[in-house]
Amino acid sequence: MMLNGALFLLVCAAARAAASGGDGPLLNGNFEYAPNRSQMNGTRVMAPNAIPYWKVTGFVEYIESGARQGDMVLTVPEGRHAVQLGTESSIRQQLSVTRGKYYSITFSAARTCAQSERLKVSVVPGDDDVADELPIQTVYTSSGWDSYSWAFKAKQGVVSFIIHHGDDHAEDPACGPIIDCVAIRALNPPRATPHNMLINGDFEEGPYITPGSPWGVLVPPMDEDDTSPLPGWMVMSYSKVVKYIDSAHFRVPHGARAVELVAGLEVALVQEVATVPGSSCRLQFSVGDAANGCAASPMRVQVATARGSKSVPYNSKGTGGYTRDALDFTADGNSTRVVFYSSGYHTTSDGSGTLCGPVVDDVSLVCVSRPHARRLLR
Ligand SMILES: *[C@@H]1O[C@H](CO)[C@@H](O)[C@H](O)[C@H]1NC(C)=O
Ligand SMILES: *[C@@H]1O[C@H](CO)[C@@H](O)[C@H](O)[C@H]1NC(C)=O
Ligand SMILES: *[C@@H]1O[C@H](CO)[C@@H](O)[C@H](O)[C@H]1NC(C)=O
Repeated sequence: MMLNGALFLLVCAAARAAASGGDGPLLNGNFEYAPNRSQMNGTRVMAPNAIPYWKVTGFVEYIESGARQGDMVLTVPEGRHAVQLGTESSIRQQLSVTRGKYYSITFSAARTCAQSERLKVSVVPGDDDVADELPIQTVYTSSGWDSYSWAFKAKQGVVSFIIHHGDDHAEDPACGPIIDCVAIRALNPPRATPHNMLINGDFEEGPYITPGSPWGVLVPPMDEDDTSPLPGWMVMSYSKVVKYIDSAHFRVPHGARAVELVAGLEVALVQEVATVPGSSCRLQFSVGDAANGCAASPMRVQVATARGSKSVPYNSKGTGGYTRDALDFTADGNSTRVVFYSSGYHTTSDGSGTLCGPVVDDVSLVCVSRPHARRLLR
């Protein structure tokens, strides 16, 4: 297996300028500052504070350019680095944050030895003391590296962010995912308005996307009470993700950001909205393609609420474009769940096998009580 680290690390380097204080890489978030040789045995990091700004536990290796591991070579340019988390190991960094605010973390990971690896991500102190598990199973890029996002609400002004790898490979303690490019972004969730009862219906607010990163950021599945890196929205799945994409590298129907449904029926994008029972609602949205070679005639996005669903076809040439559609329904409860999923599986036409799918964007929900319905929902 060959990891195309060259491109990847160029991307990391581009991000470094954005750092220092606000949104951007954590201190030494790209692991460019190396540990002192005296604190290493080969590639293994021997002291907890050896890597500048980080604290490590367990079997952690500091991966350097050209490193070879079994049949895998990291094609990393000179002077570029990452860390590999072996069995029962972790890396952590203290973060200065604003108490009560929401933050998203973006980091890149490449799987190594196993088909399926799981990382536990947490902050302490946190809302609960249970870390969220991110499945590192499916590979969504041709390079082997994927960017993952996660989010938390800051309980204090100083928190420790931790990535922990468990014991997927008890037989080889060195096995485990390689981590790089750890970045943070403060989230500013927009509010619902009478013109759009959905929060963040245009997906403009979301996790940090490294400038220059050509493959978007994965938003992994979450529990209902988790903080979402995509404010307002939940990703519901056992192990699959949705891909958060930007207009700098993909075609998006509206604004600068959108969501690509890359995992077919196995993942749903969901938002729960307070509604007045009996009111007449219209959900409007765009379905398109990201101009990433994802061609299918048609792709289908399934849109559903408890009181109605619709299959929206979109003929994609893989070159960008979208269609606008709507779903009308009557709210039958205090809350309405709006659900989007792709009813097909697609891969890009470049032969790389990269998973892709329809793009959803610019979603709005307006509900009006019955007497006004006819006038307003023409
Ligand atoms: C590396 O560690 C050795 C021994 O602890 C120490 O003498 C040396 O100054 C350290 N070098 C750096 C660059 O920290
Ligand atoms: C370094 O690692 C080698 C191989 O695992 C081991 O034999 C050796 O004892 C280690 N050295 C130290 C100083 O831990
Ligand atoms: C809706 O809210 C009202 C008032 O809070 C409550 O009495 C009622 O049980 C709720 N209905 C449903 C379906 O949740």
